[in-house]
Amino acid sequence: MAFRRCRFLYLFMFLFFVAFYGFITSIQERAHYCIITQGQIRWLPGRTCQNIKKSVIRTPLQKYKLNDLMKQVKSLQRCPWSVNTKAMKAIRSELRACCNASHNLLVTKANTHIGENITYETQRDRNIVITEKIYKMLPEVSPFREKLYRRCAVVGNGGSLLNSCCGSEIDQADFVFRFNLPPMNYSYDIGRKTDLVTANPSILHNSYSKLNAQRKPFMDLLKVYEPALIVIPAFSFPSSTDVSFRVFYTLQDFESQQKLAFFHPDYLMKLALYWKDKGLTARRLSSGLMIVSTALELCEEVTLYGFWPFSRGATGKPIPHHYYDNRIPKPGFHAMPDEFFFYTKMHSKEILKLRIGRCF
Ligand SMILES: *[C@@H]1O[C@H](CO)[C@@H](O)[C@H](O)[C@H]1NC(C)=O
Ligand SMILES: *[C@@H]1O[C@H](CO)[C@@H](O)[C@H](O)[C@H]1NC(C)=O
Ligand SMILES: *[C@@H]1O[C@H](CO)[C@@H](O)[C@H](O)[C@H]1NC(C)=O
Repeated sequence: MAFRRCRFLYLFMFLFFVAFYGFITSIQERAHYCIITQGQIRWLPGRTCQNIKKSVIRTPLQKYKLNDLMKQVKSLQRCPWSVNTKAMKAIRSELRACCNASHNLLVTKANTHIGENITYETQRDRNIVITEKIYKMLPEVSPFREKLYRRCAVVGNGGSLLNSCCGSEIDQADFVFRFNLPPMNYSYDIGRKTDLVTANPSILHNSYSKLNAQRKPFMDLLKVYEPALIVIPAFSFPSSTDVSFRVFYTLQDFESQQKLAFFHPDYLMKLALYWKDKGLTARRLSSGLMIVSTALELCEEVTLYGFWPFSRGATGKPIPHHYYDNRIPKPGFHAMPDEFFFYTKMHSKEILKLRIGRCF
């Protein structure tokens, strides 16, 4: 009797559970692996954290062992981190005094004039005179505001970003920097927001026929980053200048509103001297370190994602070189492990946060 009376109720409950189960699985599929709770992190004891940080800070550049560094950084992910305002202020004023990114990161009408003779970053015996034609391509003033950005995300292209679930955390930043026009189709891991993206002229040479042929594919690529500012090192190598100017003319021809600017070679040169003073002796700073330095100057709090220049992830599993491919760059040009050593030190001093592995 009871069953007959209640069968509609049972049927209703059954249907409700089917619908509910479907709803949950669809969310899970959408967010796939990105559902995790704070409770699952095993935090390290405070004393252990202090000891690791001290040990990293004490290690001089000549003495670090890559394997130890990797282990230490991995452990530090399970330690609380909050910015050390005093240490951050100190490095910010050093960088301002040396390099002044807020005014001089980019060549603008405010920091150059027609007829100025600009020296190339990497070939100090090569110059380019700012003609009226070049002057017209420049932004009026530096696009950065005077007030510090509160939270900045500097998103490297490292394979460690895959399955990191860092996308929503990155999108919550007030300013997001990215590198070399990266594919944006991994939003759960890398986010969607971009405020500044660099473009290496080599990508124009290799993938877009130096913009001498069809230019629409390149325009379609750029649209993905709207409304970000695109920044090209036009005056780092003499061979990069013409193709960089063609990016400007392409945007103009397609009546694009996208903003474009060129790195100031003096800024990059002064920055290289700043880091050389700290012991970095690579032939050239990576664009990673250039932008991290800029962010340290412009932001109250800086978090690095996808900066892990090793072929094995924090868990020891092999990872691709980039989150979107496994092409290995030419060796011997940058000193990635040394740069990583400095990031680890700054993480331990709570100047910047180095995010390795999953965001939670
Ligand atoms: C940076 O450059 C601007 C413009 O030249 C100048 O007004 C400002 O004082 C400079 N800042 C520092 C810290 O030198
Ligand atoms: C630019 O400066 C270089 C040396 O620094 C000089 O050789 C060259 O003639 C200058 N060019 C112009 C147009 O002033
Ligand atoms: C993302 O785009 C890149 C190139 O644009 C492609 O190689 C890759 O397969 C795409 N990945 C996904 C998950 O769609």
